[in-house]
Amino acid sequence: TRFDTLIKNGRIITAADSYDADIGIKDGRIVALGQGLEGADEVIDAQGLWVMPGGIDAHCHLDQPLGDGAVMADDFLTGTRSAACGGTTTVIPFAAQQKGQSLRAAVEDYHRRSEGKAMVDYAFHMIVTDPTETVLKEELPALIQEGYSSFKIYLTYDDLKLNDREVLEVLAMARREGGMVMVHAENADCIAYLTELLEAQGKTAPYFHGEAHSAIAEREATHRAISLAELIDVPILIVHVSGPEAIEQIRWAQGRGLRVYGETCPQYLMLTANDLDREGFEGAKCVCSPPPRDEKAQEAVWQALENGVFQVFSSDHAPFRYDDPQGKKLHGEDAGFHHIPNGIPGLETRLAILFSEGVVKQRIDATRFVALTATNPAKIYGLYPRKGTIAIGSDADLTLWDSEAKMTVRNEALHHAVDYTPYEGVELTGRPVLTLCRGRVVSRGGEPMVDAGHGLFLKCDKPQPARPRGSAKGF
Ligand code: URP
Ligand code: ZN
Ligand code: ZN
Ligand code: ZN
Repeated sequence: TRFDTLIKNGRIITAADSYDADIGIKDGRIVALGQGLEGADEVIDAQGLWVMPGGIDAHCHLDQPLGDGAVMADDFLTGTRSAACGGTTTVIPFAAQQKGQSLRAAVEDYHRRSEGKAMVDYAFHMIVTDPTETVLKEELPALIQEGYSSFKIYLTYDDLKLNDREVLEVLAMARREGGMVMVHAENADCIAYLTELLEAQGKTAPYFHGEAHSAIAEREATHRAISLAELIDVPILIVHVSGPEAIEQIRWAQGRGLRVYGETCPQYLMLTANDLDREGFEGAKCVCSPPPRDEKAQEAVWQALENGVFQVFSSDHAPFRYDDPQGKKLHGEDAGFHHIPNGIPGLETRLAILFSEGVVKQRIDATRFVALTATNPAKIYGLYPRKGTIAIGSDADLTLWDSEAKMTVRNEALHHAVDYTPYEGVELTGRPVLTLCRGRVVSRGGEPMVDAGHGLFLKCDKPQPARPRGSAKGF
């Protein structure tokens, strides 16, 4: 037979087009697109379904070692299982450098943590916390060349943050080497000042996390990151943008022709500061940074998804169990909001939320959904066109959606190792019914269908969108 697998009668959606066609798959890749294709060992009938590129979750945290005693609930097995069940076929979590550690050692450690465990494909970003001369002159240039072509830097958190001089050095290196720089943009001193003030007033409940992490502190750091990148003339991507203040800065930069990219996440569409004020300590379930804001902010985030200010929609899955002394209750319920591990789970619900709230409610169209969740992340992180599209020669990473199926989010039905979802009880329309990674069915009906170890490590090319202005035209 010509094909290993044939997907017949589906409606194909890419970042550009929507059309009815069959997909022929051979050796894990797409080898034919056409009407009336025949001859396969396995035929999948996609009548009535939308066939989209498998999701790429370009911002998630799995089995990331943390200094403070907190432990991430998901490793590469449970994290990628959850991803697969939600229609995602590639994840890009972070190999984090500890201060004093070589970056190479951090990457090697992360390979040991992931080896043989993943159900879907994965690449690594790095987190650079200690940009020594060796890191900047030797390790990063070599690692970028070897397929680790993106990394995140932080402007806040005591154990992660860089000062402006360090940011400039890192950006200059990225410009020379062609790496993509992701920035966590919050002003550390503003947050520390507000935190002390709130604590002195006895305002220690999870709700006050939102007040301490002011949108003004996010706006200032976003503007500063943009300015430093403009000074060096290198693209940057601002991650997990929460509302209009930071959006305005990014839009302003883009309007001036700078290559500044933006990412947002489901929590900024679905949650508000009120969720940090849930009964008892339950607000801790929604503590993440930047925090969810208000309904006006949600509307601004939708608008930026619709009008192209944001290129990427990721989960920022940062999995901490709620009822657990290694999770949200690390220092007990009375310790004060700033002792709560930051982050919320979302790998499995990311696509369904954007599909239901965005596509079904007609805030964005289906091609934009694909661009935000698969195609753009593939381009921005150097995985395109192997990943992120439906094209001849691309990996057969596909997710088949029933655009009308109803579901209610229930944590007991999810496949991560976290004991809650912030979206418990939310009703959604549209769900993935079948997901393939390199031609292999990895989930069916929201249940895992593949063994750990199917997922392969992916080397990322130097991304075209990471090139400085003037050296190439944009994407
Ligand atoms: O609160 C968050 N977002 N935790 C995950 C780590 C990060 O900064 O992305
Ligand atoms: Zn961050
Ligand atoms: Zn994150
Ligand atoms: Zn405290």
